[in-house]
Amino acid sequence: MVYKQMESSVSKDRYAVVGNPISHSKSPLIHEAFAKQTQQNMSYERVLAPLDGFDATVKDLIAQGYKGVNITVPFKFEAFQLSNELTERARNAGAVNTLIFRDKAIIGDNTDGAGLVRDIEQNLHIPIQGKRILLIGAGGAAEGVLQPILAGMPATLVVTNRTLDKAMAMISKLEKHGGSHQTTVSVCAFEDLHGQVFDIVINATSTGLSDMTLPIPITIFSENCVAYDMMYGKETPFMAQARVAGAQVVDGLGMLVEQAAEAFYLWRGVRPETKSVMAMVRAL
Ligand code: ATR
Repeated sequence: MVYKQMESSVSKDRYAVVGNPISHSKSPLIHEAFAKQTQQNMSYERVLAPLDGFDATVKDLIAQGYKGVNITVPFKFEAFQLSNELTERARNAGAVNTLIFRDKAIIGDNTDGAGLVRDIEQNLHIPIQGKRILLIGAGGAAEGVLQPILAGMPATLVVTNRTLDKAMAMISKLEKHGGSHQTTVSVCAFEDLHGQVFDIVINATSTGLSDMTLPIPITIFSENCVAYDMMYGKETPFMAQARVAGAQVVDGLGMLVEQAAEAFYLWRGVRPETKSVMAMVRAL
């Protein structure tokens, strides 16, 4: 009996999430739920990589026969550099959150933007097409979702950020990548948001972590506006501001589960059902 158990665990395809810190990661729970639901014979672990040892950690996992890994903070850029093949969305994002190990290749993809868009369009039933969107932030999180949002063809996309130069640089990269889209894209300082109104406001800053309040006017939230904070697990000052303005407030838990589902699909070729997994994670 013991022998049989060992044998079955050895034959499982192995996956992991690599980060530092990593103990808080919900990815193993999510992927285990997906695997059970779709009857995939696989395991999924947390792997703590030393801050100066990301490449060595990944290469060791490849040597052990792992089939793929998710990448979390602070290694998404290093994963981008380590990849010897990149998908278009990883290249656009300039960061990798999913690695696929196939025939000696390290393929880097980024499922964050697809996860956000899927949560908004499929779970919240809000088509992005034709909407007025405000994206707050110009760091890695914002960059990862920029192109997938534009692919949904909103009417307008305004990017605002504390450091305006970073927002400008992010937008100017769009042209370099040859993006052709019908959306009017512009950059705007926080103080110039007065008088503008949006249907979807996405907070991609890290202000939720430090409990900082963004200097945004609450008049930006239209009636029926959705205020989406990419953070999850707590009520951020942004969510509180949006709530006061009467917006529909959404946290990033759906995005977390959807980006995982997209990675699972890349690895296993099966798309898991996500609603029940979101409910499971929310109940933790
Ligand atoms: P991430 O990978 O989470 O995007 P990041 O690349 O460090 O992290 O980016 C953090 C984002 O949060 C940036 O847009 C940052 O604004 P700056 O570009 O001006 O630094 C934003 N941010 C962090 N703290 C902020 C604050 N107190 N007020 C406004 N924006 C803030």
